[in-house]
Amino acid sequence: MKKLIMKHGILRSAAAISIIASAAMGNPAEAKPSAETKNTISINPVITASKAPKGVKVAELGAESKAWKSAKGVDITVYPQTTIELNDKKANELGSKDGAKIINVAAMYDSNSIAFKIKWADGTENIQSGTRSDEYPDGFAVQMATNFSDPKKLPYIGMGSEGRPVLVHLQKAVKVHYEPNGGGNVELQVNMHQANAFDKNLTNFVKNVSEAGLYDYQKVFISEGFRGMTEIRGGGENTGMAMVYGKNGWTGMMTRSLKSEHADFAAAGTLPVAFALWDGEKLGRDGRKDISGWIAVKLEGKKGDDALAKELTAKPAGNIEAGKANVEAMCASCHTLDAQKVAPAYMAPNLSNIGGYSSAAYLAESIKDPSAVVVPGYNRNAHKNFEWYTVDAKGVRTSTMPPMMTDDAMISDAVAYLMTLKSEVKK
Ligand code: HEC
Repeated sequence: MKKLIMKHGILRSAAAISIIASAAMGNPAEAKPSAETKNTISINPVITASKAPKGVKVAELGAESKAWKSAKGVDITVYPQTTIELNDKKANELGSKDGAKIINVAAMYDSNSIAFKIKWADGTENIQSGTRSDEYPDGFAVQMATNFSDPKKLPYIGMGSEGRPVLVHLQKAVKVHYEPNGGGNVELQVNMHQANAFDKNLTNFVKNVSEAGLYDYQKVFISEGFRGMTEIRGGGENTGMAMVYGKNGWTGMMTRSLKSEHADFAAAGTLPVAFALWDGEKLGRDGRKDISGWIAVKLEGKKGDDALAKELTAKPAGNIEAGKANVEAMCASCHTLDAQKVAPAYMAPNLSNIGGYSSAAYLAESIKDPSAVVVPGYNRNAHKNFEWYTVDAKGVRTSTMPPMMTDDAMISDAVAYLMTLKSEVKK
């Protein structure tokens, strides 16, 4: 059994102890070059969650458990979420120049739990000390839709949407043990010769120690958009997470119950799951992250129709060239498309990576019925002249985007073109 404090001092909460206990963490994936090219459509593959071998309890799996040998890792591409800009020019630039990334995901389940093991390359290990706000940590998230009976109407990929909730499992690399002087944080040194400073520092010290003892940035949210996130406390989802830095990258693990207060995944044959990464080195935080689209995770050996997997791997049939011409003519006054920056910032979601994290069904729905899913732009003050939606007395949101295309063939061409809008994977 390993100690609870990991190599780099990331202490897990009780829920995750079982994961760490058996985890002799190893080497994360080296990113493999991808065949991805611009102006083409690329679709993520289906992930098969393998059935845990006899005697293996998925809730107790470690990242290096031998049982993982039976689960095949699959490469998934994550794209910079360029929907909205942060009020931090440098972070925006670093994020969008960084390109898409490859992560490797394996999954396993038993009758009670499901686990995901995610590996990704990252040349710099960014851990945030609990006391600092000028550093940004690396991190990852696993998002699951709670209702996916209609695969054409999945929640908005960026943390769900009104009436279409998601569960977000979030782990950030935050250092939780406190060393008053060891970290070089001079402002926290206690100087015995300065009585005033001493008092102040002593107060700080006590505060920091108590915070350090409590703080573990591992959270679960039920979310209907980043304006409607509620943290689930008290372990009701029965989930655990851990992340460990190895050779040039991270290994992250998440386990959770198949059945909980907020979700019932036990009856389904295939689940929609999405993954996100934050890179602290690139000043990533909040919406400045890399995300996948909804990925179909098939539970090995379970029956059930494959509508969801079919939907999430379908290549749109429309004509890319025709779609490009129409979208550039009709939509570029509001939306940034790729390099073409005609639209004012904040006017509407930036679509330059929309093809990387959207399904064809979502795009078609967004065009035909803009209010079906309203993207909840989270920095409303930054664009109060360009409101993305109005809210009526009952709280119902209506998109300010006019339904401009009604012809199905035209929409299908537009969708094919939008699916080509995405960053390339840097070689
Ligand atoms: C008057 C400005 C305006 C025009 C013109 C416009 N849109 Fe939009 N669009 C918006 C706004 C605002 C939103 C965010 C609210 C919402 O979700 O509907 C949006 C959302 C979207 C989304 C969802 C984006 C995301 O990040 O998930 C897509 C896709 C989209 N529009 C496509 C189009 C296409 C294609 C056209 C041209 C046929 C178009 N839009 C024309 C304003 C506009």
